[in-house]
Amino acid sequence: MEFMRIKELRESKRAFRPDKVSREKIYKILDAARWSPSAANMQPARFLVLDTEETIQKIKPGLAEGNYWALKAPVIIVVFSKPELDYQSERIRYYTFDTGQAVMSLIYAAVDNGLMAHPMAGFSGEKIKEIFGIPPDMDVIVVIALGYKGNIDELDEATRKKDMKERIRKPLSEIAYFNDIGKPFAVEKREPGRYFETPVDIRFNDIDLIGHVNNATFLTYFEEARWKFFAEVFGRENITKLNFIIASINIDYVNPIFPLDEPLVRMWVSDIGRTSFRFNYRIVSKDGSKLFASGSSVQVFYDYSENRPMKVPEEFISKSAPYIEQYV
Ligand SMILES: Cc1cc2nc3c(=O)[nH]c(=O)nc-3n(C[C@H](O)[C@H](O)[C@H](O)COP(=O)(O)O)c2cc1C
Repeated sequence: MEFMRIKELRESKRAFRPDKVSREKIYKILDAARWSPSAANMQPARFLVLDTEETIQKIKPGLAEGNYWALKAPVIIVVFSKPELDYQSERIRYYTFDTGQAVMSLIYAAVDNGLMAHPMAGFSGEKIKEIFGIPPDMDVIVVIALGYKGNIDELDEATRKKDMKERIRKPLSEIAYFNDIGKPFAVEKREPGRYFETPVDIRFNDIDLIGHVNNATFLTYFEEARWKFFAEVFGRENITKLNFIIASINIDYVNPIFPLDEPLVRMWVSDIGRTSFRFNYRIVSKDGSKLFASGSSVQVFYDYSENRPMKVPEEFISKSAPYIEQYV
């Protein structure tokens, strides 16, 4: 999955489906942790993976009561380390920092595998060490509940309330500075001045046996919108001169489209690099109130005579300007 999408999908919720997590996925997730960076490559993080009903129940006395929801997760990972595994810096204890980095990789790898990983500090490290025979000189740094996201309605009232809390973050201007510690980081993401919008004509053969627009057809709606974008922005006569290839495309299905819906594709441009750029898509209802799907595609300009990617043409940037997302 594309990283920005993983970043968006990651969250610490508390309801898990009982479905088991395969050993293959557990391997991939721990391998991501293993490949994280660490000071002097000391790799101080250690992991105890619990994936049986019996071992998961064993951890109960070691968890804070407020974290008992985690006992329904199909996997719990105890993460520990000790100062002796540290890169011996005098100022900073890097063993917890490096363990944190490994845990972050683990969490993102979980999302990449369709899972949710929820880190917890609410536990007794001493009790957990005793229960599982973890050496006494180790520090249990975090306990992670891992599994497929479940239904919030199955949580008790207090836990459900926690899960319904809005996820918020401080603005970047409060936590980052630009060039000068007195100057708050003030770059803002702005939507483009204009979206390119094109209505979708649903054809009879777009509809599948279930009675709504077939998932694969959504991609042709993106394609149609791209085609119309180029025809309008660059002129129909120039459409065959635009030599780019699609490097990747992703789509998130949010709501089904039924035959009588009147969707439109809303598009804009972002992430213009040396040779590539991104189209962002939203398929929405005519009045914009309902989202059917969102997605993006990365295009690379390609010089077919040289057989290699080429610089994004200035003309593309200037003509697409009203539709480009801004960071100012
Ligand atoms: C080190 C650490 C300890 C945490 N401890 C707990 C915990 O004991 N119980 C809990 O429900 N959530 C715990 N969380 C989850 C945080 O509350 C959560 O990450 C934060 O509110 C941001 O929400 P988000 O992860 O959905 O973005 C912990 C997170 C971290 C990183």
